[in-house]
Amino acid sequence: MSQTLPPNETAEQHAAFNARIARGEKIEPGDWMPAEYRRQLIRMISQHAHSEVVGMLPEGEWITRAPTLKRKTILIAKVQDEAGHGQYLYHAAETLGATREEMLDALLSGKAKYSSIFNYPTYTWADVGMIGWLVDGAAIKNQTMLAGCSYGPYSRAMVRICSEETFHHKQGKEMIVAYAQGTPEQRQMAQDALNRWWWPSMMMLGPHDADSPNSGALSGWGIKLKSNDEVRQEFINEHVPELLEAGLTIPDPDLHQDEQGNWKHGPINWDEFWAVIKGQQGLNKERLGARQHAHEDGAWVREAMQAYAARGLGQAAD
Ligand SMILES: [Fe+2]
Ligand SMILES: [Fe+2]
Repeated sequence: MSQTLPPNETAEQHAAFNARIARGEKIEPGDWMPAEYRRQLIRMISQHAHSEVVGMLPEGEWITRAPTLKRKTILIAKVQDEAGHGQYLYHAAETLGATREEMLDALLSGKAKYSSIFNYPTYTWADVGMIGWLVDGAAIKNQTMLAGCSYGPYSRAMVRICSEETFHHKQGKEMIVAYAQGTPEQRQMAQDALNRWWWPSMMMLGPHDADSPNSGALSGWGIKLKSNDEVRQEFINEHVPELLEAGLTIPDPDLHQDEQGNWKHGPINWDEFWAVIKGQQGLNKERLGARQHAHEDGAWVREAMQAYAARGLGQAAD
């Protein structure tokens, strides 16, 4: 990587660091690392943590409206898993020196970004299934790649998260396949959900490689092992045949297979992607409002925990 080094970093340090990455070693919290590597990881991991936590909102709205007890228990478990993913990731970012307060502040003030996908509304119960199948399906592709990344705590968090995401993906697919074979109303509900979530799922894997400003540095440091377009290709190749087999129609008239068997998609509406990320379109205000409300609502819990901690660790509780 060609870059001008910060004044307190030497070319030797960088060479040794890059050699460790080239050998496939994991970088651990106490190890020397370039300030830019640390900054990029904090940005990425905290955005990822915010996405998990905000991601609880579109599906959480449906817990009280689940059609059966079985589907309700599955959804509760899934939403709870996403909270856990947020926890692992905030912890991983804390090992780099970011504080929980800073990160939450950045989210609640609107300074930090999170995945654009969670700013889309959920209109019917089938949206819950389609999120599991497509959104968690896309997330798995990205997170499987990150499980191999060079920063130890991030990579280990991803291994754990991926095994839970696999369950999220399966329950979504099972639900949509069942509805696609169900009554005409259920089939229509599944198709409408696909029409709503197909393009946002494609977009959530990020801009094309040429428009992804951080990608170069991230791949050089072994943080991103594949480009956005490569991950998107994996996602489409897996999901297109399965959706078609379920009898659903994918809302892309240009979708076709090339000679290598790769599914090729039509143009993506990136104006929509950027508008949703910036909060000019979609539910960004509502999502942040819900998080702010939850944060204020939980103030007494944080105060109680501080008061308890102030009594001294190791003291018996009475
Ligand atoms: Fe998750
Ligand atoms: Fe998930």
